[in-house]
Amino acid sequence: MKVHGRIRVPGDKSISHRALIFSALANGSSRLSGLLASADVQRTASVLRALGVSIPEVGRDPIVVTGDGPLSLHAPAGPLDAGNSGTTTRLMSGVLAARPFASTIVGDGSLSKRPMQRVAAPLTAMGARFAFAHGDGLPMTIHGGALQGLTWRCEAASAQVKGAIVLAGFVAGVPVEVHEPAPTRDHTERMMRGRGVDIRSEGNVVTLNPSATMHALDVDVPGDPSSAAFFAALAALASGGEIALPGVCANPGRTGAFRVLGRMGARVLWQDMVDAGGEPIATLVAAPHTLCGTTIEPHEVAALIDELPVLACVAARAAGETRVTGAAELRVKESDRITLVVNNLRAIGVDAEELPDGFVVRGSDRPLSGRVHTEGDHRIAMAFGVLSAATGGAIEVDDPACVDVSYPSFWTDLANACA
Ligand code: S3P
Repeated sequence: MKVHGRIRVPGDKSISHRALIFSALANGSSRLSGLLASADVQRTASVLRALGVSIPEVGRDPIVVTGDGPLSLHAPAGPLDAGNSGTTTRLMSGVLAARPFASTIVGDGSLSKRPMQRVAAPLTAMGARFAFAHGDGLPMTIHGGALQGLTWRCEAASAQVKGAIVLAGFVAGVPVEVHEPAPTRDHTERMMRGRGVDIRSEGNVVTLNPSATMHALDVDVPGDPSSAAFFAALAALASGGEIALPGVCANPGRTGAFRVLGRMGARVLWQDMVDAGGEPIATLVAAPHTLCGTTIEPHEVAALIDELPVLACVAARAAGETRVTGAAELRVKESDRITLVVNNLRAIGVDAEELPDGFVVRGSDRPLSGRVHTEGDHRIAMAFGVLSAATGGAIEVDDPACVDVSYPSFWTDLANACA
């Protein structure tokens, strides 16, 4: 299978959620273009609407969001449905914890199983009260109110938890300091700084000082590197050709997968790097070459956490062994991505093994076929979709529509890249 063409991947999911939330919290009108029009981002828009913010239909481009500061957010009339979106839930928990009303967040079956104590614990320490219907998953009721400042040491490296604490500090007007075990994606910091908020990072520590307001700011959302990774992986697995992906966010906290693909032998190049609105943006060019296995070390994981399913699929075709450790967080994503990736690889004929905090894949060139169970996890569907396209199309994905949460046009773009 040969690849070709230029694919403009949709807007970055992390930046799209934040662009909506920060525009709603700002004072004034922000023009947002290139926003990802996916199910997850729609959830953030609808949660903000339920709190009284007027947000045009996501999908029109551009849209203008006019914020009137955090105090304008009022109690919702009913439960806030975050669907499948962990980012909506956790970032909005921080906002809601600092507003003086009760709100309940609900979600789909997958989201309801994901751990929320990681945001409830620091926000409770700031003065909010959380009530869980069962365990530490959704539904979760947040009784918000006056908060105090906080210094918090996160157990897991999570940009969502960091973002929740920082948002609570901003809305409440109190200082916060977040210590992370490893630096995670820094879009919250970059985007708040761009809006005039006093937020600094030094090593693994993020500090926010109270700011009265956040400026409105226009945003051109760059292409999502996590979506681009599927096409870089496809190119790596191809027998020839080249794919160009213009306008991709090249934030170093997001590009670990491309470094690993390069190390495995693929040709991966960033061209025409520019700074756009506080984020580096470039054209990513990817082409095949002989692939070999690699070791992904714990310190590399935060910058490629969402790309591990597709890297596992590339490893299935790389000579030798690929080993990933320090990635226990994969077990609490939209699915248990360690078990699901390994079970699916085995189901189609790949030699793979689970580790408590990662996996081992032994590559081969044997024929691969079978049915992949996604459990509704978009990244599992796309990872195996890529492997199927690259190996003759005998791998079937049980729920192709689940890609809607992050990349609704994925299957069309995939077909075009291979045509
Ligand atoms: C995200 C952070 C990561 C990532 C998710 C998006 C964000 O989750 O996996 O897809 O936008 O902050 P964690 O914070 O749970 O690591």
